[in-house]
Amino acid sequence: MLKARIAVLVSGGGTNLQALIDSQSRGDLKSGEIVLVVSNVQGAYALERAKNAGIESLYLSRKALGGQEAFEEALDRELRSRGVELIILAGFMSILTAGFTKKWPERIINIHPALIPSFCGKGYYGLRVHEAALAYGVKVTGATVHFVNEIPDGGRIISQKAVPVLEGDTPEVLQRRVMEQAEWILLPQAAETVSQKIIKERGKMSDLFSYLSQRPYPGRGIMLGRTPSGRSACVYFIMGRSVNSRNRVFEKTPDGIRTRAFDESKMSDPSLIIYHPVRRYEGKLIVTNGDQTDTIRDFMAQGKCYRHALNTRTFEPDAPNFTPRISGVVKPDGNYNLSILKSLDGDESETCRYFYEYSPAKAGVGHFISTYVGFGDPIPSFRGEPVQVQVPELGAAELAEKVWNALDEDNKVSLYVCVGEDEVIINKNKE
Ligand code: GAR
Repeated sequence: MLKARIAVLVSGGGTNLQALIDSQSRGDLKSGEIVLVVSNVQGAYALERAKNAGIESLYLSRKALGGQEAFEEALDRELRSRGVELIILAGFMSILTAGFTKKWPERIINIHPALIPSFCGKGYYGLRVHEAALAYGVKVTGATVHFVNEIPDGGRIISQKAVPVLEGDTPEVLQRRVMEQAEWILLPQAAETVSQKIIKERGKMSDLFSYLSQRPYPGRGIMLGRTPSGRSACVYFIMGRSVNSRNRVFEKTPDGIRTRAFDESKMSDPSLIIYHPVRRYEGKLIVTNGDQTDTIRDFMAQGKCYRHALNTRTFEPDAPNFTPRISGVVKPDGNYNLSILKSLDGDESETCRYFYEYSPAKAGVGHFISTYVGFGDPIPSFRGEPVQVQVPELGAAELAEKVWNALDEDNKVSLYVCVGEDEVIINKNKE
């Protein structure tokens, strides 16, 4: 089982971070793994605790980065590049804006040292919370773990624990009691519960390899996604039934790949089967099953988007199948789009255009779309939304091997796989 990848955000002493580290060492926090600690305060002792535990740590300065927006962008980049799936705020004394929290729905948890909705929200942090509780004269306080949304301390509550306020308490004494009796227990427990939920959600996704091995003829297929550590992954394959279609290989070009006839003497009609499935343009990766790759690239060169380009195209004119045109674009930040242009139940006069946006692209998740769903006359087009699949932490060569083995032996023709910067091509036809 691949553990949920956790980042802990801190600003101070880091006793809650220590509670998480200890819980991980004891084996109580077993479904998640702390892979990164980020502090917004230089020299915070929490960074020392991370170092002692052998956990990677970072200091990000809002001031040096040029403000909150730039800070949140840098933070998001650091987290996604490491495939973080769960963010834990453990004494993180800064409010994250909606711009950030919206990108991580139910993926950020916070520990607050009071029983929410008491003594919470803007201005209530650290010792101030306990000062306010003592000033009010409450006899019971405690701690709350909750999901973080755009309202400070306003997200859904996960767990709470009450702690008594005793005669003669100072804010420091009360803070210590709340930590010992509530925070250090609740936070690791919540980290385990949410990590389990993340793993369970992964389990609901299809496995691309079994999906493909159960389907002898998906035709052409595109999978775009991200590995658990945050590398972009792209798969494109072609399958064929006719001699003409099977007589192809993928070969590298300066900006991507193209299809080429394996045996020129056997090529009867190059239209629709000779094209550039992959082209890179200004940091974007365009992948399609036809010459719409070039249309998209040309529109981008004019400052227009891929949707605009595909609105000028239709499905393929290969009656009676009217094969869909499937396309995908991976942006430099790893977010991606998929599209399918189909005929409406074989009606030649109408193109249905579907566009799907995966932003932010999640670590360990991909989406697959193909031209067909199986055999038939006409061959039935792909239906429904792209299939959500798990993307394992594999290099390009290993991923290519697994996809290649899953594709039907007779029908598969060529495969292209790219993970991060690494590209692999497999051709059935060999010189
Ligand atoms: C803890 O009491 C935590 O609940 C609180 O700050 C302290 C940090 O201690 N967090 C907030 O007030 C957030 N609004 P630590 O650095 O030793 O974990």
